[in-house]
Amino acid sequence: MKPGMLLIGGATPRMMDQFNEAFEVHIASQIDNLTDYLAENGENIGAIATSGKDGAPVEVMSALPNLKVISSYGVGYDGIDTQAAVDRGIIVTHTPTVLNKDVANTALMLILATSRRLIRDSDYLRSGEWEKRGEAPLTNSIEGSKVGIVGLGRIGETLAHKLSVFDCEISYHNRNEKPDSPYTYYGDLVEMAREVDSMVVITPGGPATRKLITREVMDALGPEGMLINIGRGPVVDEPELIKALQAGTLGCAGLDVFEKEPAVPAELLEMDNVTLTPHVGSSTRQTRQAMGDLTVENLVRYFTDGKVITPVPECVHYADKVEQ
Ligand code: NAP
Ligand code: 8YV
Repeated sequence: MKPGMLLIGGATPRMMDQFNEAFEVHIASQIDNLTDYLAENGENIGAIATSGKDGAPVEVMSALPNLKVISSYGVGYDGIDTQAAVDRGIIVTHTPTVLNKDVANTALMLILATSRRLIRDSDYLRSGEWEKRGEAPLTNSIEGSKVGIVGLGRIGETLAHKLSVFDCEISYHNRNEKPDSPYTYYGDLVEMAREVDSMVVITPGGPATRKLITREVMDALGPEGMLINIGRGPVVDEPELIKALQAGTLGCAGLDVFEKEPAVPAELLEMDNVTLTPHVGSSTRQTRQAMGDLTVENLVRYFTDGKVITPVPECVHYADKVEQ
């Protein structure tokens, strides 16, 4: 008999084919009353497939007494209560590394589009202003500029490497200094913000990073400073970001993530010094396929040989269940 799996959120057709082959799939979005359904069928479900966006509600986890493994599509897993999982011996997996390049490319796209005011200048042309008023205003170059990366992890390192093509001077802020890093470490974010031209946020979300980017950090970046957020919306104090941009104490911003997605504050929509993308950091066909394959493989491997490939850090101590 195939093991039971609850799918929370969506899955690509390729993932669905693989899921159906290996599991008895229960699709949460097609179930009218999930609470009643799980009360009746919960004990037959040993796995959850979900995503960074959809997470795994604690009440759903609690309704599955035989839950063994949660596989999340995406590297960020702030929507999953990993402590509750660890307490029950449930292993949580995610999809790190396979998305590094495309997420770093999205950051790069936001850096270039924002510093060079791509959207503003495109509108200037399309609205006929170029013909009426002549040349568009000048913008700032990122060539040789100082970039501070908040969260020099897998994606941050990939971005730093790509920025070397622009001769950028890289510094970073993490909780821990990296002993062999060629980049300048700042333990103090405000200090780093004072020294750099732009700051790129690529940390995980969750309580530890909530509002890490304060108004003080934004003001230290200054009127010519640029803030890029590709990590998680709540890492930046969004109301203060709006005020800083309105007051001109922060120069410009490029944002892929927001406090209450998919809602985006109206004030941001009106600003021509802000570039906005709808959480598309990893959204290429190629990367999403790799993420989907890894999401499925983690689950299938667990049920075929008892080992997963990419557990979240909180679960790596289940050494007997992790492929070495
Ligand atoms: P990672 O390798 O774990 O790197 C995370 C980095 O953040 C580490 O260097 C870590 O260093 C630092 N960090 C963690 N907590 C911190 C804190 N409280 N203060 C300061 N620094 C902190 O993760 P990754 O694979 O690069 O992914 C990073 C995040 O990007 C994901 O968790 C996700 O939220 C986001 N993401 C967004 C998209 C998108 O579509 N926009 C796509 C993929 C990922 P220390 O541990 O030393 O502090
Ligand atoms: C995904 C992401 O869009 O990996 C992450 O952390 O934010 C993105 O790659 C998301 O996880 C899918 O819901």
